[in-house]
Amino acid sequence: MSTPQNVHPLTQDELKTLVGQAALQFVLPGEVVGVGTGSTVNKFIDALASMKEQIKGAVSSSVASTQRLQALGIKVFEAADVQSLSVYIDGADEIDHQGYMLKGGGAALTREKIVAAQSKMFVCIADESKLVDVLGAFPLPVEVIPMAAARVMRQFAAMGGMAKVRLKDGQALVTDNGQHIVDVTGLTIHDPLQFETEVSQWPGVVTVGVFAHQKAQVCLLGSADGVKILRF
Ligand code: 5RP
Repeated sequence: MSTPQNVHPLTQDELKTLVGQAALQFVLPGEVVGVGTGSTVNKFIDALASMKEQIKGAVSSSVASTQRLQALGIKVFEAADVQSLSVYIDGADEIDHQGYMLKGGGAALTREKIVAAQSKMFVCIADESKLVDVLGAFPLPVEVIPMAAARVMRQFAAMGGMAKVRLKDGQALVTDNGQHIVDVTGLTIHDPLQFETEVSQWPGVVTVGVFAHQKAQVCLLGSADGVKILRF
């Protein structure tokens, strides 16, 4: 789809709607689909309702997505009850030209990585503001066990980053898993695979928001020229 001249450029919200709808082409009838979290995924969930009679249901990556799916009459399965998924659809805070992503802006990164890991294909849906050459401009979310937060923040400081515990209503945000989020700025992640491997081993880190081992195979990117399909 292209934007005719003299028509207003599509807003970020409209681009999210476009990619959310475009993701339906990757949903296989008769199967269970993996569903991510966030404002872009919300558009996908709304679109998925139009084919809910054709799918078995979904495995969800957050309480928020579960509630939205169920409100639209889409059955939600426990991850443990489904062996493997053919596709996982999720957004990203940043995606690079290899399909490596930075995720967790919505604090759902741990369950997102789990559902991505049980899926054969990760389809990222994003507007073009998310496409970057190098990951790291967006604050990197890291889910941590609260007892480890101070130590993990010191480890990031030693790497040249600045880490803060994410707050909600003046208190440390508590994730769906009962843990905290540390957001790290000031890092440029040149080797996402190595970075993810290293930080994942720090004591008390539950999940680091670099998705390199669980990278995207496809990105549906909403742009002024319509939806571009990037394959990695
Ligand atoms: C949630 C995520 C989201 O996918 C990411 O934050 C993008 O969200 P949005 O579609 O709202 O921009 O990782 O934990």
